[in-house]
Amino acid sequence: MLKAFTMAAALTLAAWSAEAQPSTVSFDSATQVFRLDGGNVSYVFGVNPRGELQQLYWGGRLGATDSFPAAKPMPEWASFDDSYTNTPQEYPGWGAGLYVEPALKITFADGNRDLVLHYASHKATEHGFDVELKDIERPIYVTLHYAMDPETGVLARSATIENRDAEPVTIEQAAAASWALPAGKYTLNYLTGRWAGEWTLNQVPFEHGERVMESRRGSTGHQANPWFAIQAGAADEEHGEVWFGALGWSGSWRITVERDQLDAIRVTGGFNPFDFGYVLHPGQSLETPVFYGGYSAHGLGGASRVLHLYELKHILPRTEATRGAEMPRPRPVLYNSWEATEFNVSEAGQMALAEKAAALGVDRFVMDDGWFGQRKNDHAGLGDWYVNPQKFPHGLKPLIDKVHALGMDFGLWVEPEMVNPDSDLYRKHPDWVLRFPGRPETEQRNQLVLNLARPDVRAYVFGFLDKLLTENDIAFLKWDYNRNWSEPGWDQLPASEQKDVYVAFTRNLYSILAELRQKHPKVEIESCSGGGGRVDLGILRYVDEVWPSDNTDPFDRLTIQNGFTYAYTPQVMMDWVTDSPHWMNNRATSLQYRLLSSMQGSLGIGADITKWTPEETATAKRLIAAYKQVQPTIVQGELYRLISPLNGSEFSATETVRRDQGQAVVFAFIHSTQEGRGFPLLKLEGLNPKAEYTLSAIEGKAGPDTPATASGAWWMHHGLAMDASFKGDFQAAAFRLDRK
Ligand code: GLA
Repeated sequence: MLKAFTMAAALTLAAWSAEAQPSTVSFDSATQVFRLDGGNVSYVFGVNPRGELQQLYWGGRLGATDSFPAAKPMPEWASFDDSYTNTPQEYPGWGAGLYVEPALKITFADGNRDLVLHYASHKATEHGFDVELKDIERPIYVTLHYAMDPETGVLARSATIENRDAEPVTIEQAAAASWALPAGKYTLNYLTGRWAGEWTLNQVPFEHGERVMESRRGSTGHQANPWFAIQAGAADEEHGEVWFGALGWSGSWRITVERDQLDAIRVTGGFNPFDFGYVLHPGQSLETPVFYGGYSAHGLGGASRVLHLYELKHILPRTEATRGAEMPRPRPVLYNSWEATEFNVSEAGQMALAEKAAALGVDRFVMDDGWFGQRKNDHAGLGDWYVNPQKFPHGLKPLIDKVHALGMDFGLWVEPEMVNPDSDLYRKHPDWVLRFPGRPETEQRNQLVLNLARPDVRAYVFGFLDKLLTENDIAFLKWDYNRNWSEPGWDQLPASEQKDVYVAFTRNLYSILAELRQKHPKVEIESCSGGGGRVDLGILRYVDEVWPSDNTDPFDRLTIQNGFTYAYTPQVMMDWVTDSPHWMNNRATSLQYRLLSSMQGSLGIGADITKWTPEETATAKRLIAAYKQVQPTIVQGELYRLISPLNGSEFSATETVRRDQGQAVVFAFIHSTQEGRGFPLLKLEGLNPKAEYTLSAIEGKAGPDTPATASGAWWMHHGLAMDASFKGDFQAAAFRLDRK
């Protein structure tokens, strides 16, 4: 799909800063209307005469003096759809004839299941409000938290549900938030996948009925990602209104998108209600995950640029070195040994790889699976986190010292929440796994899931990681998670409370990560789950990067990475260069092509570099050096997906522009030239039309008539032409433009 170009798109960036307005939050006590403004967005809701909290507006920023009348419930639709179900509530309880998805559904001890939430009180917070709702009769309180980001207009929403009754209640369903849009024609965008095939962008017209995106697997999962984008009209990369959301939860989750019978849109997301049942004892409360929502008037591209900025500034953690910094630091270029050695790691083998990696200009050397316990293959060892004495007779120190002497820091693979039945840990603590006693324990990749919700398991996992980081100079952990749940029992608890595991497991995961980061503030962490199985805004508050896919085929990666960037910033997207022909599709590609494919995110090398020829080594060295010069622009700039690789496109291209418009980096890829068609003229985006930019090739050649220097207007309107020699199969080129 070729982008359409307009002046308006070219001016997006300039307009963005010119339009930037301070955020305001206000409550009008006469009308009981709440209004939150941030970036180019306004979000408005009010208390209607029945006492329900009703959504009134979500979209482009309104005028400062615009006001809303008091909320009016929607009328009933004959006798079949009552006003309660037709009214877009901020957080509807299941009761009183609600037929759309409830935000909250509760079973009380006496069997009552009716819940109707009314406004009780509110207080202003730094960037929003805490609004308290209460059931019309029983002391169930829900506090809705709203925080509007002044810069991006991303609204963070969550809820705290509190039982002030004398009896326990069971929460059957709890969302973080419900979002609503009025009747209209929309396109729904969402991401699905599977192992080695994550990040497929689905774009479908919004039909009646409900579409469910979810994980029932105990973790985020490969099959769908907790992100959505709803576009007014047809999907368009750079134009039109888009409402989007991303849920911050790494356990079983669900987002439902509905078009009700009156054509209105509701999006509801939070804990997955499937097999859910969280018991709240008197005085206890449950905190939901956070559901982030945003808006852009500049298409899906605009939506992802807003989300990327929010992630960089407000989600991603900082280390000791970047504490208080606006942005996290660009990721070190890393080497990872997995595809080169698999489980066959040894001191000598890793040292040989490290020497080669250092010579390429790599900053971080990571040893993957196989270094611990009796880990010869995937049948044994998980859970036994001692250094394997046959492979590393002197411990890890000689290897780590060598890596440091070569000028790199050292990273290590761990899979803390798992155990092989063939391990000392399992032999000692067979009851530590998720299980239903007396039932089979289903193995996946010959492993079981430790029940991290248990305090003793939490203590063990934190303990071994803390010891590992205290005793060794480790800068980085690749934290893996290689299976989904089965038999999710927590047999320490009474039968009625065992389902609490869905919440307690993930909370303990977050708390371990938080505690480790606090105690070891230099350490950086990658979230991996057999590729992109645990990527969401929940885990990204605790990890610096993620592994998008085990599929490192550089051509497949173009679509995988393309899909990834709809929801997540290239800063966290690790992309390794691996060997050719690639194991996935048996496809052979040049090293240049592989490097350029990986250079669109955070670059890594995962090939058997001991086998590289001097020419290959020189090419990699040159391109790694070129990458480092422009890396901040690529991973933290404004991303424009100029030509999509989807739908069998012959071509694809991306551009990132530094936020001060001082630099841009362009990547162009050919799948297979057909009928001699040359690469399309690339009309760039986001530059300052009046500034002068000098073009230089990182790899490849521009057309013979291309000026060395031209205005932003020239590059955006006339466009960048490739040389006629840019043809063939799996070809790649890259350019940088620097403001004079
Ligand atoms: C998972 C990861 C891989 C590698 C292996 C090791 O599949 O995604 O990158 O670490 O585990 O067993």
